[in-house]
Amino acid sequence: MAREFTSVGVVGLGTMGAGIVEVFARNGIDVVAVEVSDAALDRGRVILTGSTDRAVARGKLAEADRDALLARVTFAVGLDALHSVDLVIEAVPEHLDLKQRIFAELDRVCKPEAILATNTSSLSVTEISVATARPNQVVGIHFFNPAPVMKLVEVVRTVVTSADVVADVEALCGRLGKVDVTISDRAGFIANALLFGYLNHAVDMFESRYATREDIDAAMKLGCGLPMGPLALMDLIGLDTAYEILDTMYRRGGRDRRHAPVPLLKQMVTAGLLGRKSGRGFYTYERPGSPKVVPDEQTPTTTDPALTDAVVTKVGIGSARSELASPAVVTKVGIGSARSELASPAAVTKVGIVGSGTMATGIIEVFAKAGYEVVSVTRGAEQSAKVFEAVQTSLNKGVVRGRLSEADRDAALGRINWSATLEHLADVDLVVETVVEELSVKKALFASLDEICKPGVVLATTTSSLPVIEVAMATQRPADVVGLHFFNPAPAMPLVEIVRTIRTSAETIATAQAVSATLGKTGVVCGDRSGFIVNALLFPYLNDAVRMLEASYSTTDDIDHAMKLGCGYPMGPFELLDVVGLDVALAIQRELYLELREPGFAPAPLLEHLVTAGYLGRKTGRGFRDHTRR
Ligand SMILES: NC(=O)c1ccc[n+]([C@@H]2O[C@H](COP(=O)([O-])OP(=O)(O)OC[C@H]3O[C@@H](n4cnc5c(N)ncnc54)[C@H](O)[C@@H]3O)[C@@H](O)[C@H]2O)c1
Repeated sequence: MAREFTSVGVVGLGTMGAGIVEVFARNGIDVVAVEVSDAALDRGRVILTGSTDRAVARGKLAEADRDALLARVTFAVGLDALHSVDLVIEAVPEHLDLKQRIFAELDRVCKPEAILATNTSSLSVTEISVATARPNQVVGIHFFNPAPVMKLVEVVRTVVTSADVVADVEALCGRLGKVDVTISDRAGFIANALLFGYLNHAVDMFESRYATREDIDAAMKLGCGLPMGPLALMDLIGLDTAYEILDTMYRRGGRDRRHAPVPLLKQMVTAGLLGRKSGRGFYTYERPGSPKVVPDEQTPTTTDPALTDAVVTKVGIGSARSELASPAVVTKVGIGSARSELASPAAVTKVGIVGSGTMATGIIEVFAKAGYEVVSVTRGAEQSAKVFEAVQTSLNKGVVRGRLSEADRDAALGRINWSATLEHLADVDLVVETVVEELSVKKALFASLDEICKPGVVLATTTSSLPVIEVAMATQRPADVVGLHFFNPAPAMPLVEIVRTIRTSAETIATAQAVSATLGKTGVVCGDRSGFIVNALLFPYLNDAVRMLEASYSTTDDIDHAMKLGCGYPMGPFELLDVVGLDVALAIQRELYLELREPGFAPAPLLEHLVTAGYLGRKTGRGFRDHTRR
């Protein structure tokens, strides 16, 4: 028989504590909510009522249920109020000495059989537990932010936690409608150990002005389907809390440099920029605690209404591209510079696409559908026929699914000219190169394009791993060369990374941005570093998941669950690796490691072994999971 929990205590009503109170009270459990002062108690009460009022407004909670929920909560200053609860969850700031002091006090105040739990994200539950005389009744119950929404709870057992305490807490999680994973006491547990290196890396990209905050966040949302971008997530977590978590993980987790908090974080915390809770972090919010972002001095003017209007008109009526020449966009130029400069995009009506693979096929479709005249150049008639067939099949699917009329399909196909000769690119306004990922081939092609294309044409490469500057320098016009990194499948994926080399002109970037917008894509601008934004942030995280599995800390299923239910990821890391292909992941990870020389980026040996064994993922029937039996 699992233990009955009729009343619980929550210590600290900040970002997490207030949400944890709501979770318990929603599920019929009485809560004693404790803070340090009346003022802090009031702040906690406001978070709780704000959240429940929003749930009522959204129709997710009946008014009567909200009132019953709030009636279950008693507010108090000081731990003495917790004398008769069955379980306490501590959610005070992430400092070991503070938590140890509170646990020593809880041990004195609470009844002997009460379970004492910490919501710590990174500190040692074992070290917290030894501050009490009942370490066998101390456990980690790690909720995710926002606690009322996120399904996951990590239950952390130490070497001395009793098995029945763990079982009782697991049963309680079920009663709260949560999914629990039980793990041992290691810095960051599952989710944060995989998340915080990524978040810190994103802050580093922002600090070094590699890309804007909006572009970093948009890249991860649109490129990976994440519910929020890393910088917006940092603001939600709270920058002070994130700093402490990183700092502890760095010290406890083997001094991995990727967890050493980026200096900017400390500066922001010192300046009181704590994220949503203080009204300002990476973004500015309507008021402290509000989720609503308001414009500030960093808000880009790239979505100039004039440009947006022009784009909408054009897409709507599919008319000539030349109108696009008018609106000016602000773009960032220069190495590491946040200087804004006005640049006008060049008019683009005719686009050349070189290549005949999966990406070329998708990109041809995207441009033709958006109303551009397309010249497809392949290595021969046979390849052109193959690409034509693939584009036609894809467009037909659009017709069958009701997304495209037959007339629009025919018009799109009619806009494509098929050729096997680069000379046919003499009068295009933009070339998109999407041939094999080999530097020598791309360089030779760009040298030819330089001979053939008229002056002022934008020359773009879709490379995902090669330095764009290398192909740019194969021409006499490096200012006109840019990376346009589409995602697969190009017609479906809403993101394009626009890669600016140290020689790319502001006009070229402006043209790439304007063209991306007419394609219905979000173009994010970044520097010319391995992995650009998305792959540089995504693959090390996947590699870390493999390392965690290799260390036998958890299972593929639990790790996948943790990231999906704790962080809202559409797929767990092993699901995603099996889809992407382990060989592809390994190649990208190697590139990142070679370029950045970051020891933490070294490919996980298990990944290397699986690739050597031919376990490449879904495409070979087996990767981290066996797909032949499903
Ligand atoms: N923020 C997140 O996304 C997140 C997610 C999961 C876990 N956590 C963990 O939850 C814990 C709390 O983090 P947070 O982000 O909610 O912090 P927070 O700063 O938002 O809130 C902490 C609260 O604790 C109160 N407090 C401080 N000392 C106290 C005391 N002696 N007695 C009672 N209350 C006291 C503060 O007044 C404040 O309201 C940390 O251990 C953190 O690592 C945070």
